[in-house]
Amino acid sequence: MSVDPASLSYEDFVQGIEDRQRRRQLLFREGRPYFVLVSQQFSRADLEGLCDTATAIRRLDRHRDGVDFLRRILHGHRVMNLFAQPSTRTAESFIAAADKLGASTRLVSDMRTSSFAKGETVDDSVRTLSSFFDTIVVRHPDDDFAMRASWALARSGRPIPVVSAGSGKSQHVTQSLLDVYTLRYSFASRGGIDGKRIVLVGDVGRNRAARSLAYMMTKFDVHRLDIVCAKDHLPEGGLLEYISRHGIDVRIHERLAPALEKVGKEVDAVYMTRLQQEWDGDAGGTPDQKGKLGTNEDFVLHPEYAKYLRDDCVIMHPLPRINELPEPWESHPGFVVWRQVRNGMWMRSALLASIHGAADEIRARAARLSLV
Ligand code: CP
Repeated sequence: MSVDPASLSYEDFVQGIEDRQRRRQLLFREGRPYFVLVSQQFSRADLEGLCDTATAIRRLDRHRDGVDFLRRILHGHRVMNLFAQPSTRTAESFIAAADKLGASTRLVSDMRTSSFAKGETVDDSVRTLSSFFDTIVVRHPDDDFAMRASWALARSGRPIPVVSAGSGKSQHVTQSLLDVYTLRYSFASRGGIDGKRIVLVGDVGRNRAARSLAYMMTKFDVHRLDIVCAKDHLPEGGLLEYISRHGIDVRIHERLAPALEKVGKEVDAVYMTRLQQEWDGDAGGTPDQKGKLGTNEDFVLHPEYAKYLRDDCVIMHPLPRINELPEPWESHPGFVVWRQVRNGMWMRSALLASIHGAADEIRARAARLSLV
C-alpha cells in the first residue's frame, strides 16, 4: 500500500521511517533519495550505485571535458547549507560538491542571523527557504530537526529535498556514506566490505558518525562488530538491538589495549572517534571550554598499539580529532583519514547528483570516456 507523506501527522511520518516497508516510500521519490535522514534508508544496491557515481565524478574531474560536463549537471540549482552546529569538513565539502556540479550555494551558520532567533518555527523556516533553494542541507543539535523539516516540506506545496548533515547525537548519514566509500576503496583488492571485521572506538553512544556507520554495516555481509567504549557511552536508541537483529554479533569492550591485544590481528579496520564533550553541558553544540578537551587513556590509540594490528588494517576517524588518534599513525600503511576527508566531497557530489536524477548520466559519461 502506498503512503502519501503529505497525509501523515508528524508522529506517523516518524513512525513510518522506523518501518522498513514504509521508509522507502517516505524518503525516496522515483527510486531516488529525496529526504536523506538515516543510514537504514539505503539498500545495498543504493550504496553500490552511490559509490560508483562518486568514482565516476572523481575520474571525470581529472578530465577537461569531464569538468565541463560536471558543471552543467546542476547548473542553475541552489543549495542552502543550514548549519546550526560547528563544521569544517561537512559544510565545506557540501559546498565543494555542489560547486563541482555547477550549483550555487549559501551557508548560514549563525542562527542569530536568521529568524529562528525571533522564534520562527522549523516548518515556516524551511517552507520559506524552499521558495529560494532547490535543496536544503541541514546540521542541527536536535536529533529530529531534519526529520521535522522533511515532513513540513513533504506536505507543503513546494517540497524540495532535505539532506541531514548531522542530526544531534543520532545520525550523520552522509559521513557514513563517505566512510563506506572509503572502506570499499580500501578493501577493493580484498573482496570488498563483506566479511570484514571493524572496531568502533570511543564515545560511540554520542558519536553520530559511528552510529550511522554501525547501521550501515547491516547492509553488508558483516558478521561481527566490536565496540570499545565506556559503559556511560554505550549506544542507545535501539542501535545495538537493530544491528543484532540484522545478524551482526556485537561485542562490547571497556578498554582499547586489552581489546586489541585479544582481537587486533583479526581486525580489518579501526574506526576512532572523539569524546563528544559538547554534549556534557546542558547546551549541545559548544564544547565546555572549562573542562579539558580530549579522551581518556582507555580509548586512545597509542602508537605502540600498532604491534597488535596488521599492517593492512585500515585506520579511520571522521575528524575532528583531539588526542585519541596521535599523529604518528599517519605513517601507518592503513591510515586513510585524509582520504576520508576528500571522499566526503566525491560522495556528497554523488548524493546531490543522485537526488536530482543525474547519476546514470554521470556514470554513462565516465564510461564513454573510458574512465570507469
Ligand atoms: N566529520 C565531520 O562531521 O566533521 P565536521 O564536524 O568538521 O563537519
